[in-house]
Amino acid sequence: MDKFVIEGGTQLKGTVPASGSKNAALPIMVAALLVSGKTTLRHVPQLRDVSTLSRLLEMMGARIERRDDRLMIDTRDLVSVEAPYDLVKTMRASIYVLGPLLARARRARVSLPGGCAWGPRPVDLHLKGMEALGAKITIDEGYVVAECPRGLRGAEIHLDIPSVGATGNILMAAVGAKGRTVIRNAAREPEIPALADALSAMGANITGGGTSEITIEGDHPLKSSVVDNIPDRIEAGTFLVGAAMTHGDVTVTRCSPTHLSALMAKLREAGAEVTSEADWVRVRGPEHPKAVNVTTDFYPGFPTDLQAQMMALASMSDGTSIVTEQIYRDRFTHVAELNRLGAHITLDNNVAVIEGRQHLSGAHVMATDLRASAALILAGLAARGETHMSRVYHIDRGYEHIEAKLAGLGAVVRREQEALVV
Ligand code: EPU
Repeated sequence: MDKFVIEGGTQLKGTVPASGSKNAALPIMVAALLVSGKTTLRHVPQLRDVSTLSRLLEMMGARIERRDDRLMIDTRDLVSVEAPYDLVKTMRASIYVLGPLLARARRARVSLPGGCAWGPRPVDLHLKGMEALGAKITIDEGYVVAECPRGLRGAEIHLDIPSVGATGNILMAAVGAKGRTVIRNAAREPEIPALADALSAMGANITGGGTSEITIEGDHPLKSSVVDNIPDRIEAGTFLVGAAMTHGDVTVTRCSPTHLSALMAKLREAGAEVTSEADWVRVRGPEHPKAVNVTTDFYPGFPTDLQAQMMALASMSDGTSIVTEQIYRDRFTHVAELNRLGAHITLDNNVAVIEGRQHLSGAHVMATDLRASAALILAGLAARGETHMSRVYHIDRGYEHIEAKLAGLGAVVRREQEALVV
């Protein structure tokens, strides 16, 4: 297993382009299953989650070829409608295949994803959505077995929670359903209009993507197409928080500032100088960041995927910050590890109180999930001394060329083989 050795006391300085979005690329790759043809997706990041999903689609009969940052997915032959546990357990986004498989093959057998390191992550809204579209769902030995022998029918669906995954899954299923579907209380995260745009490029008739009411006129013929991915707002945001933590000066190019407005507001509140134009954001970090309170929320609120990174910033800010996690109430595995670096964080249910420290100190820490790893790297860069972070496979799921990108900003992060202790 690999670990990162992070040299502390660095100021992040320079320009870095955002990669294509992981969380937009995954559902668009799955949407290719709806078409009997070729989908070319541009700006696909090289990530472990993208390889895992490619493997799953290949098991279903897709032929996938990567050229630079383009992924060509040929889905003319569909040979299997099963998503096995071994793949789903490593990547929950696999549940996205449910809607497209039902629409195209009228059946699907998808392993239930189960929980994750930071608590339960149910898929009940995905299943209720498929039932509303006419699918019969049973659970058999940990698998969701879904069938609709006469095809899916459009329906009016009101989501209890504006879930990104459920909105995307229902949207894809509805594209292949007969008649009109209306999704109310739909997620508005940028990954949803990105998916709606990709589906429209394939020939689907969708209005309202990016609002809380999406209307789909289903069963339009779909065709081979070329679609563009959007920039990764969480990757971009991670570098910007890094600038704020290290008294740095970072410009992230090829990004969408509107997708980052909640973060930009918080960084300004922390004392950073934040400027932006159409496709870049620059953050100049203050000498001493100020404490800020953060409450995660559905888009356009503050993203849960930047909560851990903000907590790293709060750990070395002047004053006491309060971070409230409303989307995933247990998403706090980074707290114990940040405390190992000298942070002072106490937790009461989904509320963390962070007493800022003058400085953090390097230590041995363990990455527990993707965004926790990002927070630990930032904290390690800002800390005094060296930080050793084990289990870097988490970061490889979602940050493209992370060491090279950080090196371009002046950081020293080495990937080393972890010594085995027996
Ligand atoms: N929820 C339900 N039932 C469902 C689905 C969701 O109760 O059937 C609840 C969840 O428990 C949670 C809330 O709804 O409390 C929102 O979850 P959502 O479905 O929106 O999340 P997701 O689709 O599973 C995506 C991202 C996550 C990101 C969340 C929130 C992908 C592949 N994953 O997950 O990204 O945190 O939206 O924005 O797009 C990450 O990239 O590190 C990551 C975890």
